[in-house]
Amino acid sequence: MKQILVKNTDDLGRIAADIFESEIKNKPDLLLGLATGSTPLPLYRELINRYETGVIDFSGIRTVNLDEYVGLPRAHVQSYRYFMDDNLFNHVNIDKANTHVPDGMADDPAAECMRYDALIDSLGGIDLQLLGVGYNGHLGFNEPDDVFSANTQVIKLTDSTIQANSRFFENADEVPKLAITMGIKQIMLAKKIVLVAGTEKKDIMNKAMNGDISPLIPASVLQLHRDATIVRVE
Ligand code: GLP
Repeated sequence: MKQILVKNTDDLGRIAADIFESEIKNKPDLLLGLATGSTPLPLYRELINRYETGVIDFSGIRTVNLDEYVGLPRAHVQSYRYFMDDNLFNHVNIDKANTHVPDGMADDPAAECMRYDALIDSLGGIDLQLLGVGYNGHLGFNEPDDVFSANTQVIKLTDSTIQANSRFFENADEVPKLAITMGIKQIMLAKKIVLVAGTEKKDIMNKAMNGDISPLIPASVLQLHRDATIVRVE
């Protein structure tokens, strides 16, 4: 794992955007794996800026997002589909038909998970996967567990994640209890991974990068990836 330490969140956005820019220029129809949360926001702002100044062209780009809450319609302001439209897709020249987020309203969530993995495979696999990290080391919504999850699946959010994400809702009761998340296998199959982390994730990232590789700290699995870069605020 390679680590780039930066001074502040603006630098985090710029450094991560440099990686995205160079990958997109190498492969204009890149399949990008994308993440939500506050940490990627400076990166998304920088990508919009580079689109507006003619540096990055998103017209051929395809995207798959990591996760989505079960039970939130796409128009819900806290759905991850809404987040992606609002913070990136509505501001660049991407074809929305080429942007994919698991459907949290699917009648059959288990079938939706299978459809999502098949979709990623049919798109040729993820070229560049962006990740954030939870305070408990979760990737996407892959919570600490006894085993690493393989495929896209429905998971029950831990109390700590519900608490952490309640800041976006009226209260913790409003936070969905279930989510669909891409599994660790699909994440690890990405050709390149960039994980962004703020200064508040220092402790968990130290454990993930330097401790045992364990599903109890899902992010520790990145030690096994051949091209994972951590961009972290000191
Ligand atoms: C959510 C998302 C994760 C994200 C995490 C961290 O739980 N499912 O994909 O990495 O939040 O978010 P933040 O960057 O806001 O700390």
